[in-house]
Amino acid sequence: MITQQIKTAIRDIPDFPKPGIVFKDITPILKDPILCDNIINAFVEQLKGTRIDVIAGIESRGFLFGLTLATKLGIPFVPIRKAGKLPFTIKQRAYKLEYGTAVIECHTDAFEPGQHILIHDDLLATGGTVTAASELIQEMGGIIAGFSFVVELGFLNGRDRIKSISNTVVVLAEY
Ligand code: PRP
Ligand code: MG
Repeated sequence: MITQQIKTAIRDIPDFPKPGIVFKDITPILKDPILCDNIINAFVEQLKGTRIDVIAGIESRGFLFGLTLATKLGIPFVPIRKAGKLPFTIKQRAYKLEYGTAVIECHTDAFEPGQHILIHDDLLATGGTVTAASELIQEMGGIIAGFSFVVELGFLNGRDRIKSISNTVVVLAEY
């Protein structure tokens, strides 16, 4: 049911951000507070039994449900940001994009070594972003509790990359 609600709300934008890509626009979901609440409740339900001490949300769309989910669970939220945005001392990690490289960063006091961190993002595509986030968190002594995504683009096989990091992969709508 939640899957169908999400798929009904998502808007396909052809040829964005470049020709041949069909962009999954989640902004209509954000305008529907009942659906947003249903999404958070579905994550809570599917993550029952998983130890989560902290949620790390990936900039920028991973912030949207990441903070709300952390607040609902009564646990801290920490942002994983693109380079140059975080003001305190940071750890960073570079990763490959289709063209060139990107850098993600995390504050050094984001969590304590040994804590179990759930990585949250809106969408799993190739898995490159959350793999880099996992490696950054592990380098800082964190344990990956699992991953949560609103949407998975299954045809890009991101799950194959991340399943060796954690068996816990929660996805509410797959294409
Ligand atoms: C999109 C999406 C995920 C990531 C998934 O973010 O929100 O974060 O790409 O791709 P991957 O699985 O292939 O790594 P984007 O970089 O477009 O930035 P945004 O969230 O700031 O819009
Ligand atoms: Mg993103």
